[in-house]
Amino acid sequence: MRFLHLKPGGFYIDGTLGDGGHARRMLESEGSVAVLGVDRDAVTLELTAQRLAGFGHRFRTFHGNFSELDQALAAASRSGADGILLDLGVSSRQLDDPVRGFGFRVSGPLDMRMQPCVGPSAADLVATLGERELADIFWRYGEEKASRRIARAIVRDRTEAPLTTTGALADLVARIVRRHGGAHPATRVFQALRIAVNRELEHLEMFLDRVLDWLLPAGRLVIIAYHSLEDRMVKQAMRSWLSHCTCPPALPRCACGARARVKVLTKKAVIPSPEEIAANRRARSARLRAVELMA
Ligand SMILES: C[S@@+](CC[C@H](N)C(=O)[O-])C[C@H]1O[C@@H](n2cnc3c(N)ncnc32)[C@H](O)[C@@H]1O
Repeated sequence: MRFLHLKPGGFYIDGTLGDGGHARRMLESEGSVAVLGVDRDAVTLELTAQRLAGFGHRFRTFHGNFSELDQALAAASRSGADGILLDLGVSSRQLDDPVRGFGFRVSGPLDMRMQPCVGPSAADLVATLGERELADIFWRYGEEKASRRIARAIVRDRTEAPLTTTGALADLVARIVRRHGGAHPATRVFQALRIAVNRELEHLEMFLDRVLDWLLPAGRLVIIAYHSLEDRMVKQAMRSWLSHCTCPPALPRCACGARARVKVLTKKAVIPSPEEIAANRRARSARLRAVELMA
């Protein structure tokens, strides 16, 4: 809330509405703001729309991807927002619902699609990708050291029986990787598959390419990332907005009058306090960064 710095009568977009915790806080902290909640998960969106219906016309929802906010803005008849928030990844509700196939505490179908029934599921990827492609996903998105051995085991085992449940995949990984610390050995593989299934990095990249066009002058952008690759993308984009020289590299001196497009509000990523992590373990890897568009 401090970084969003809500202004009376302002219009804000929560690009990852989820269960509406952030949107509710925005609506409660400043009685005259309007919030548009966007989520690609229609099931989540509907539940949260009902939960926040008490805010009346101040709260609206839009089913879509945060990488395509043009459509959300058009639907809300707005030219831009005074602030945009992204709280990346999956919500606790999605993670804990076995039917959605994101977690493995209780086995469920190996699905992991944030937008149910759209595009290939995790089971489809595990059934069709080659050993090398699977290993690359586990290594790149999960930094899983045993990526090759896990991919080899998947390709070997799937000839006998398809891997269709989260429990079966978690058991396969647990046979290969030893538990380190408190996390289940399959945590990294599940995170990696989820990122691949939902093309999370591609959507973040598209968002970062366009987001400054969606902000009104002096509008704020706040992004919370939980994965080092995502945080790096956010950091690099924010840095690139500081000087936006468009001159050809061969030109000896800048002639385009480049000037910073944003003011960076967080010199370093803001991380949760030990107290917050103790109260909410899932916050442990959160990294928040914020900028303000130049007026
Ligand atoms: C970490 S949760 C957000 C939780 C929320 N801030 C709250 O207070 O409850 C992330 C949400 O963003 C959604 N999401 C993830 N990537 C998205 C994308 N590219 N476009 C739209 N929604 C997305 C997920 O479906 C999920 O509901």
